[in-house]
Amino acid sequence: MAPPNRADLDLLRLLFEAHRDSNEELFLHAAQSLISRELSANHHTEAQKLIRALGRDSGDRVERPRLTRLPNRGLTGTDLVTVHDSPTLDASPVLSADTRDRIDRLISEHKQRERLAVHGLAPKKKVLFWGPPGCGKTMTASLIASELQMPLGILNLPSIVSSLFGGTSTQLKSVFDLAESQRIVILLDEFDTLAKERDDDRDIGESKRIVNTLLQLMERFSSSRSVIIAATNHQYALDEAVWRRFDDVVHFPLPTEQQRQVLLRQLLSGVRYAGSVLDSSKAMQGLSHADISKITTEALRTMVLESRERLNLADIKAESTRMRAAMRGTHSKPVRARQPRL
Ligand SMILES: Nc1ncnc2c1ncn2[C@@H]1O[C@H](COP(=O)(O)OP(=O)(O)OP(=O)(O)O)[C@@H](O)[C@H]1O
Ligand SMILES: [Mg+2]
Repeated sequence: MAPPNRADLDLLRLLFEAHRDSNEELFLHAAQSLISRELSANHHTEAQKLIRALGRDSGDRVERPRLTRLPNRGLTGTDLVTVHDSPTLDASPVLSADTRDRIDRLISEHKQRERLAVHGLAPKKKVLFWGPPGCGKTMTASLIASELQMPLGILNLPSIVSSLFGGTSTQLKSVFDLAESQRIVILLDEFDTLAKERDDDRDIGESKRIVNTLLQLMERFSSSRSVIIAATNHQYALDEAVWRRFDDVVHFPLPTEQQRQVLLRQLLSGVRYAGSVLDSSKAMQGLSHADISKITTEALRTMVLESRERLNLADIKAESTRMRAAMRGTHSKPVRARQPRL
């Protein structure tokens, strides 16, 4: 068994402190964080063992009324959502022509909602974004919210699904009520969490109920003023049943050679660069936009720390090599272990 890491130790410390102070609120918070982390890492069996150990599926919430509240959270719909009131972007996402067309079209439909309404038509309201991490799904959701001057609400599905507390379904309903009653872009992040839960034969009651509630809420969602965006890294979640639930499906692929160059030019604007953008882009083949952005920022930090005024191709190449080595060390996450179906 691997030794506990720093985050494990922090959670253990919280559990000890909760025990010492008889602080059930803190205890539940730490327990929930631990379970959320396991779910985010796709360790579903371990997460379920922890949930069972906590007595969550024993139907005992009536005897333990304190389990019916989310710790440190109130009971309004917005508590499950991180809301960014007016998201702003430093730069526009670099997207493939096809992706950009789909996004422009969505924005245009919402901007011209009234024109569509005259003909009995509504803009698209439920859209699925899929593609590898760091290729602009969240960034583009911000762009849409910013273009349409709407707030952006991000729901973290792993933590919602693992929530140990009654009232989560009610809170989800109020999130959707919110989206029916006011204009908002809702991003359902890590949407495949739902597919995994539904697929899991070892039913753990409450979380399946939450998943079903969420799917029903999506099904019934009718406001043409708000937009619901589901995001996933997993292509396999795209079966026919999923397609049916969305008005559009948009792919966010890794950047092509040409897109890497556009992104690099954007990132290096105003920088004295002694290398060729083409060569740097070649050194970054197969990397995501987020990786390219990190590499460039790190190379710029090195330039500043070494009191240089120019960035060299060698800086970028060195950072790219380091990032690839680091990624080889972290790519143990079993992202394609199962083939969930919604
Ligand atoms: N298409 C893009 N154009 C420019 N920058 C990008 C793009 N995609 C990602 N980035 C950079 O990477 C960061 C992270 O991207 P983002 O959060 O949008 O990725 P994501 O697709 O949502 O990833 P995940 O699947 O992990 O949630 C952005 O804040 C931005 O700096
Ligand atoms: Mg994201």
